[in-house]
Amino acid sequence: MAMLVTGGAGYIGSHTICELTKQGYDDIIAVDNFSNSKMEAIRRTRKLCGVEFPFYEADLRDAQKMGGIFAKHGVDCVIHFAGLKAVGESVAMPLMYYSNNLHSTISLCEVMAKNGVDKLIFSSSATVYSGGNEMPLTEESKVGDCTNPYGWTKFMCEQILTDTAKAHNWSVALLRYFNPIGAHESGDIGEDPVGIPNNIMPIISQTVVGKIECLNVTGNDYPTPDGTGIRDYIHVIDLAKGHVSAIKYLNANKGTHVFNLGTGNGTSVLELIAAFEKAAGVTINRKFTDRRPGDLAASYSSPSKAAQLLNWRAEKTMNEACVDSWRWQSKNPKGYEGC
Ligand code: NAD
Ligand code: WQD
Repeated sequence: MAMLVTGGAGYIGSHTICELTKQGYDDIIAVDNFSNSKMEAIRRTRKLCGVEFPFYEADLRDAQKMGGIFAKHGVDCVIHFAGLKAVGESVAMPLMYYSNNLHSTISLCEVMAKNGVDKLIFSSSATVYSGGNEMPLTEESKVGDCTNPYGWTKFMCEQILTDTAKAHNWSVALLRYFNPIGAHESGDIGEDPVGIPNNIMPIISQTVVGKIECLNVTGNDYPTPDGTGIRDYIHVIDLAKGHVSAIKYLNANKGTHVFNLGTGNGTSVLELIAAFEKAAGVTINRKFTDRRPGDLAASYSSPSKAAQLLNWRAEKTMNEACVDSWRWQSKNPKGYEGC
């Protein structure tokens, strides 16, 4: 089964390629435009997998180039990770986000349709859920009212893919990720965002290696037990496994299928910091600052639907994820830079 992985050089894409090959899906074709990643991630992923899978530096919006890749490889299924993901940047540059995330997805679907490819897994996000929902979030919780353009691109892509699946009789999985953290157990691949990270885990680990001076804990006056925000942190390898389960499900089920991929556990920022300090044997330089605009007090999943239908559950603990994130960051204090 030939699997095209878009955004294959990125954080979740590279780990998913490793997991796919581990489970016997070694006919992989990866594509990335390196807007938030480096070729070194592909080199290391190939080495870890022991598979020299083909890779193309391409922008998904380049329909001609993408058409050539599909024609050459006889793609059966697409796992679509490619997209811009920095919430703050999306507020400052909405057109860049709408252009990249929507145009890429539409163009990809057009190429799929032309080439008779009818299976796609999409990286959606817990960010599509509206504020004001009761916790835990189920796939039936209210969506929309997004607080930033990034979130809207995920919401809109979900709609575009749902309509396309219906019209063309495709099988589509919309996987709503909660908060991915951790890294491959080797410490050879991990999260290495270009520029200043937005997400808490790379901010924590880059603070420990001195790349960032101080960790700002954004808000300690939330209505939560310790006053800091609560999230559902999921190990990236568990997330990657969720994609393999989704492929199996799509092979047997037409239509659009939405799944939360989370652990179901809520963890506060202070609990996460404490777990990382234990994993790394350090004390993290931190201070409390104002809340980030648009942040929710708490967001965590009900992963029951994925457990029932995909037979998938997150297995790794947050402590293991901290150990793995730290192994990656300490082995690669500058990420992939200079490799
Ligand atoms: P990432 O930035 O590490 O990976 C995305 C990759 O897509 C990057 O390598 C980037 O260069 C590539 N890309 C972007 N636009 C492209 C284009 N037009 N053509 C070709 N390649 C392009 O991000 P990630 O954390 O691995 O996230 C993967 C997907 O999961 C994204 O769609 C993201 O929005 C979604 N997601 C991520 C999180 C998270 O917290 N990491 C949570 C929920 C959803
Ligand atoms: C986690 C917790 C912050 C930074 C974002 C996107 C979402 C999804 C995942 C892609 C919160 C706190 C953060 C900092 C802090 N991405 N924090 N200091 O906000 O749950 O979700 O990433 O789809 O769309 O919105 O994740 O990692 O940014 O924050 O204290 O410097 O850490 O307040 O409680 P979030 P995050």
